[in-house]
Amino acid sequence: MHMHKFEKAWLGFGIGSLIVFLTVLGISAFYLGNQPPSCLATINPEKVDQTAPFNEPGLKKVEGKDWDYELVFVASAFSYNPGEIEIPLGAKVKIMATTKDVIHGFEVAGSNINMMLEPGYISEHTATFDKAGEYLILCNEYCGAGHHMMTSKIKVVEAS
Ligand code: CUA
Repeated sequence: MHMHKFEKAWLGFGIGSLIVFLTVLGISAFYLGNQPPSCLATINPEKVDQTAPFNEPGLKKVEGKDWDYELVFVASAFSYNPGEIEIPLGAKVKIMATTKDVIHGFEVAGSNINMMLEPGYISEHTATFDKAGEYLILCNEYCGAGHHMMTSKIKVVEAS
């Protein structure tokens, strides 16, 4: 079979790209252990207040983990608990959040933290807060009449 050299080059480029892509994907998945968010952490949405750690929303120092603090948020129409929280500058924080009623959003304005909170599921994101200041948390999933009022605040403060 005769093939034009451009056709061969293009075929080679296509196969090469496929190999590069699959190699990158394979290294990322099996060597670096990257996985898409699993949504495997579930919770009974009717018993959020009785289920640890959501029975005690707020910031908690933890030992022996890859992060320094755990920050637990419970969302419900139309507020977050806690309504305001202080985080020491430079802390690596695992945020864990869920909702008691409908779907809410959890966006920390000015950062890349942006989660959807679904009833029955626990959303997690680990972030390091290395810039002092106040960060607005807002709901970006329309959840009802008070949606636009639904906010909380993270204050990143220098440890004293
Ligand atoms: Cu909660 Cu919009």
